[in-house]
Parts: sequence; structure tokens; C-alpha cells
Amino acid sequence: MQKTHPGKGKPLYRMFNNIPHRYDLMNRMLTLRFDEVWRRKATRLILEGTPEKVMDLCAGTGDLAVRIASQSKKTTDITALDFSENMLDLARLKSERNKVDGRIKFIHGDAANLPFKDQTFDSIGIAFAFRNLTFKNALKDDALSEVYRVLRSGGRFIIVESSQPRSLVMKWIFRIYMKVMVDKIGGLISGHRSAYRYLAYSASHFYKADEVSDMLKEKGFTYVEYINLLGGFAAIHIATK
Ligand SMILES: C[S@@+](CC[C@H](N)C(=O)[O-])C[C@H]1O[C@@H](n2cnc3c(N)ncnc32)[C@H](O)[C@@H]1O
Repeated sequence: MQKTHPGKGKPLYRMFNNIPHRYDLMNRMLTLRFDEVWRRKATRLILEGTPEKVMDLCAGTGDLAVRIASQSKKTTDITALDFSENMLDLARLKSERNKVDGRIKFIHGDAANLPFKDQTFDSIGIAFAFRNLTFKNALKDDALSEVYRVLRSGGRFIIVESSQPRSLVMKWIFRIYMKVMVDKIGGLISGHRSAYRYLAYSASHFYKADEVSDMLKEKGFTYVEYINLLGGFAAIHIATK
């Protein structure tokens, strides 16, 4: 019997599986390479306390998983999960190029229905995909419950994501940047107008950092803190189960 596809028919699957071939380049360009700085910072937090089992959730082209593999001990067990097979293919290639391919298990799976037992992971990281799982996503509660379920008690969920600047001036700059650079120019260069329109719209209207904290506490995380990045353009949340 054929296994059900983890992504087909799910919110955003088609958009991500038809990924712009310049996906990584676009990320670097649109964030002025800050995405790399923020992933590095998130990786340090993910590896704090030397976790044995770590997951990069919604791994995409594998930037976070490859970083985790490069910065962790050889014995750290690393899983990278995504529902887009095309993204995972790029992630595998990247892990080979960075000579960490033997270190990462690539899993084709859905965040809202994770193929793992309860309390499997000591640490779960997600880079620039928490917004996709939670912003106007009908499966938001399922995804959050699944992360909570597969994380061990005392384990940590580290989220690096765009956020909302607090000051009105920064908020205004952020919105203009999203509209002009991301929606218009990003859409033009990548050739995927609807994907970059979605990115600009969802980032501009995404939750404030305090609202993300409340959402995580409602799910059961006992201790939640966050670090604002670049005046609140982005934030890293650290949620402990
Ligand atoms: C914006 S990309 C971020 C990729 C990567 N984490 C990074 O740092 O660049 C979002 C990723 O989340 C994946 N994704 C979105 N919803 C998902 C879901 N429900 N289950 C698994 N992967 C999902 C997409 O396929 C895509 O690769």
C-alpha cells in the first residue's frame, strides 16, 4: 500500500515545493545576510546543555541543520524534517557539500503530524518557518501540540522568526521594506510573485513577540523568554517544556 504523502493538500505545500531555484540567494539578499547571523545565534541556544537528540523542524534547504551538525559533538543525533521533497533534496546536497551528510537524518514529514514517539527530542529548533505554521494556518494547533508532544520534559523549543518592531518608526520602516523589497523586488527577481507576496504580507501582519510567548504558554510550555533582534525585526523565542 502506498504511504500517504505528508505534504500534498496541506497549507503552503505547493508554494514551498515549487521553490524558487534562487531560494537561498533570495534569503541572504532580502535579509542582508542577517538570516545567517540569527541562525548562528539560534544554533548556540539549540545546543546549550549539550542535547543528545535535536530536530530542525521545517528544515527547508538545511541551513540550520547543517549549522547544528557543524557546531555540535559528533555524537549528537540530528534530524531535519520538512514536507517538501524538493527542499529536502537541496538540504541533502548542502549537507554533502559541507561534509556533514552522515550526521543528519532527513525525514519527509508534516509538522502537524510528526512521525516520532512522545518525548523523542531534547531540543527542537525552527528557523523562519514558525510563521508558516501559525499565521492563518488551519493546522496551527496541531503543529504546536505535536512539537510539545515530541519534546522531552525539560527540553527546549527555539524559534527564530521575523517579529514586529516595537517603535512606530521601525514598524513603518519594516512595512515599507516588506512591501517594496520583499513583495515587489523579491517577487520580480525570484519569478515567484505569489510566494514573495505571501512572505511580505505574513511578516507584516505576524504576531508580536509577546503574543508568540502567550501562544506557547497556552500550549503548556512552562517557561518562555525571547530575545529581540535588530530592534524587533526578528526575535528568538526559547520555550521550555
Ligand atoms: C521559509 S522556509 C524556512 C526553511 C529553513 N528552516 C530556513 O531556515 O531557511 C519554510 C519551510 O517550512 C516547510 N514547511 C512549511 N509547513 C510545513 C509543515 N506543515 N510540515 C513540514 N514542513 C513545513 C516548507 O516546506 C519550507 O521548507
